[in-house]
Amino acid sequence: MKTWIIAVGARPNYMKAGPLLKELSNHPGIHPILVHTGQHYSEELSDVFFRELRIPAPDINLGVGPGSHAAQTARVMKRFEEVLMKKKPQLVIVVGDVNSTLACALTAAKMHIKVAHVEAGLRSFDKTMPEEINRKLTDMISDFLFTTEPSAETNLLKEGIDKNKIFFTGNTMIDTLLDNLDRAGKSQVLYRSNLGKKTFAVLTLHRPSNVDKKEDLLKIREALVKLSDYVKIVFPAHPRTIKQALKMGVDLSFLTLAPPMNYLDFIHLVNHSRFVLTDSGGIQEETSILGVPCLTLRENTERPITVEQGTNTVTGTSPQRIFEAFEQVLTHNTPTGKANIKFWDGKAARRIIKILKEAL
Ligand code: UD1
Repeated sequence: MKTWIIAVGARPNYMKAGPLLKELSNHPGIHPILVHTGQHYSEELSDVFFRELRIPAPDINLGVGPGSHAAQTARVMKRFEEVLMKKKPQLVIVVGDVNSTLACALTAAKMHIKVAHVEAGLRSFDKTMPEEINRKLTDMISDFLFTTEPSAETNLLKEGIDKNKIFFTGNTMIDTLLDNLDRAGKSQVLYRSNLGKKTFAVLTLHRPSNVDKKEDLLKIREALVKLSDYVKIVFPAHPRTIKQALKMGVDLSFLTLAPPMNYLDFIHLVNHSRFVLTDSGGIQEETSILGVPCLTLRENTERPITVEQGTNTVTGTSPQRIFEAFEQVLTHNTPTGKANIKFWDGKAARRIIKILKEAL
């Protein structure tokens, strides 16, 4: 029996790892162990997703909790090393680009355990984003690099990664989306929140570059105040944003504030919104598949296919540019069809596990 560890740490990881675990249940020769680092620990950022997405509870929780980047990464490495020493897995699979992704990949690589990175090769070319550092370093030390879109392979080859390690297999986050759309359709969130279909926008905002400095948050606030004259903006707020806004005295009460949402409610909310404003990575992908216009409140995206073939517009954070993009949405000048992106078809996890099984 071969032991493979799948490591997750923060909210966007669960939707990417879930389909891999599900697929592995069809392969009795492999014993999967799910390790949660505990980077995210709140019920609303963690536990609820496992229940809803029917992912088995983690076998091991490292309980690292919050901290500075260095402290958090170091804690994961120290505790994950002990797990690797005990369980001696053949392979560690990491997903996405959070601190836990890099910490687990680095620990395994140093112990000469094979590492697979799911969602490899995405690049914003902006080293001020912690995720960009996590992505680049994880890719450098991985043995299997599974990509979601063609730009990723181009990026990896430019960085000197061996072509034989790169596999274009698609998007496991979209596996989860397609698998759960029917169930999300039964969500009562619109009814509960008294929202009519296509009458509101959804906002998500939590990147340090947008919410950690008062002047940055105020700039985005200015745009949102203007937009809210025309459309109700529903904001399921990340705890980090609320914490920062309170600390800096930035008033967000003109928005329709909600606590972080569970997955099915959130997907339903997005699916029936007029458009989305976000600084998240994954939401650019989900809106493209749902056919909902997405305005990305960042200067760049590591997911260019969502702009080329999806519904994404990268607006930056200038109030003027955000408002212009909003006008394009209102006049139906943005792509709204459901994108048909290669391998974003619900079968990415199957492709990944097949390749890994054949190689190991
Ligand atoms: C992390 C990821 C980011 C991802 C985001 C999704 C990194 C560098 N960043 O950012 O890529 O988009 O998750 O949510 O890994 N907090 C809670 N409860 C929790 C977790 C966090 O209240 O369960 C609060 C804490 O006050 C914490 C803050 O949120 O200090 C930030 O959490 P952290 O895990 O450091 O980063 P995120 O901003 O969540």
